[in-house]
Amino acid sequence: MNVNNFKLKNPVCLAPMAGVTLRPLREFFVRLGVAAVHTEMISCAGLYRNNLKTLDMLETSSMEQPVIVQLFAPEDKILCAGAEAALKHNNNFAGFGINMACPMPKITRNGSGSALLKNPDTAFNMTRELKKFGLPVWVKIRRLESLDETLKFIELIASAGADNICLHGRTAAQRYEGTADRNFVRIAAEKFPGLIGASGDVKTKHDILEYINYGCVNVMIARGAIANPWLVCEGLDILGYNKFNGVTSEQQVKSIYELGKAAELEIGERQAVVLIKRMAAGLLKGMAGAAALRQRAGCSNNLNELLNIFAEIIK
Ligand SMILES: Cc1cc2nc3c(=O)[nH]c(=O)nc-3n(C[C@H](O)[C@H](O)[C@H](O)COP(=O)(O)O)c2cc1C
Repeated sequence: MNVNNFKLKNPVCLAPMAGVTLRPLREFFVRLGVAAVHTEMISCAGLYRNNLKTLDMLETSSMEQPVIVQLFAPEDKILCAGAEAALKHNNNFAGFGINMACPMPKITRNGSGSALLKNPDTAFNMTRELKKFGLPVWVKIRRLESLDETLKFIELIASAGADNICLHGRTAAQRYEGTADRNFVRIAAEKFPGLIGASGDVKTKHDILEYINYGCVNVMIARGAIANPWLVCEGLDILGYNKFNGVTSEQQVKSIYELGKAAELEIGERQAVVLIKRMAAGLLKGMAGAAALRQRAGCSNNLNELLNIFAEIIK
């Protein structure tokens, strides 16, 4: 599959999620079959000021390709300074992402994230200037109040050279509440063939199929992947990639084990336990005695105890 000049092996991608799409989690989802993963959004101001914590967010591994590095900035000069610093630190990225979607005040306050939806000229310049680095540019936006405004914004960003425009069907004012309006995504996908990625309420394999049937080139799984990581496999299966048939429960459990151990190294045992517990309900979905296992997982105090629950399932 070719998303402009970026080859994807299938249309199922992992969305960027701040505080969640850390390297171990990205590797886990690559093992399950996603075609691309995103870093969490990274501050360009932090990158060009060489903030060590921000630079750390750029680390990737060979187990998680292709990776899109998602950046946020209020304007093109800061964006490009950040992009340059990012590539100097790590030039293994398959593409850049620009965050024009985040509604949180700490991001929009200085003109970044979804504040750019109200500032189309700046958004255009950012896309055009970032393209000059030669990597594919994926822009993530939210729907605006009206369809007409949304389509105009997409047209502008497309004309600046964006290779993929992921449309989340909620307005910035909705934040993460309410439902995502699929009609906006459907009409955008019809109007801009080969350009639109979908985000918003991707909870079941049918949601994935629906977005693809609209003509979206790819679907970004976000909270649905945390609630049910196997959604990736189920989505690939319904799209005809036959991934799910090939994954045994032993392999599922092994991948959870690897996720837990990798997360422990990356973020420490306490955070790794929080991450696995957060995903436990979804991870245990469909396994025999899931309810009792979930309860045990909830009560586990350390990583080994938690991972042993999964190991026992294979035995
Ligand atoms: C915890 C969390 C963190 C997120 N962080 C980012 C981010 O860094 N960049 C971004 O573009 N979107 C971010 N998003 C938005 C998701 O990528 C996605 O567009 C949104 O959750 C809608 O999809 P869903 O309804 O299927 O969850 C985040 C969402 C969540 C829940």
